Amino acid sequence: MRTKNDWITILENCNKVVQKKIPPLLQKVAEPPVDYGIGAGGDLIKKVDLEAETAIVNTLKKAKVSCTIISEETGTIKIGKTPEENYVILDPIDGSTNFTRGIPFYATSIAVSKNQTLDGVHTALVSDLIHNITYTAIKKQGAYKNNEKITPSKIKSFEKATIGVDLNTDQPKTLKSLAKLLIKIPHLRHFGANALELCYVADGTIDAFIDIRGKLRTTDLAAAFLILKESNATIMTLKGDPLTEKMAPTEKIAFVAAGNSQIFSQIVKELSN
Ligand code: IPD
Ligand code: CA
Repeated sequence: MRTKNDWITILENCNKVVQKKIPPLLQKVAEPPVDYGIGAGGDLIKKVDLEAETAIVNTLKKAKVSCTIISEETGTIKIGKTPEENYVILDPIDGSTNFTRGIPFYATSIAVSKNQTLDGVHTALVSDLIHNITYTAIKKQGAYKNNEKITPSKIKSFEKATIGVDLNTDQPKTLKSLAKLLIKIPHLRHFGANALELCYVADGTIDAFIDIRGKLRTTDLAAAFLILKESNATIMTLKGDPLTEKMAPTEKIAFVAAGNSQIFSQIVKELSN
């Protein structure tokens, strides 16, 4: 049986092969887009998504692991003799619009779980493919940024906070409940790759990240979920309940992530007003 440490080595190898794919693809972003159809997560597939997914699947096959891969593009892929032993939850490229527009902020996100629920995730990696920064976590062993232990922000006052909010294709209903909060946020951000933005909460770069659209796929969030938890940051539903969604490309999630419980409570209080 693979240990969690074996898995982190495998995920790091996946990261290395994806990193090698990026520079040649970046040179081709100006070429007319090719139609690769719609992915399992419902978005148009881009070349970079497919290349990254194939590279990761091939690396997992090479490592001779048995697992069920749940990916945003192809959906479910079973490899090895006992694929139900492990689940690998994958967003090959989070922030693929940033990639195609030349905005230097996108990531690969890979989580390993013993089942299809978020709390089963035991090993995770989110790689910032531009800045050579890799976030990793192993359950009960902490969260790391390039092998240095990370902790979230200690800023407890909302007035001093830098907060990410995903408003991308938001609907009037959630926009309305966010409106009062938005005008109070002193430093508002959204960079376009939620897995990475959640890692920014884990390492204290920002103080919180809010996505209550109900549009983010659980495949985008799975790895960052463990990284956040292991850093001691908070991630919950708006009601303060744990996230229990199934990990699947079609499964969507809404959440508030915060560096500490004080910031979390202030956000939830503002949103419920
Ligand atoms: C997207 C990014 C983006 C968020 C979208 C996601 P993708 O992921 O995380 O920030 O607003 O909802 O779909 O499609 O590039 O993997
Ligand atoms: Ca993606």
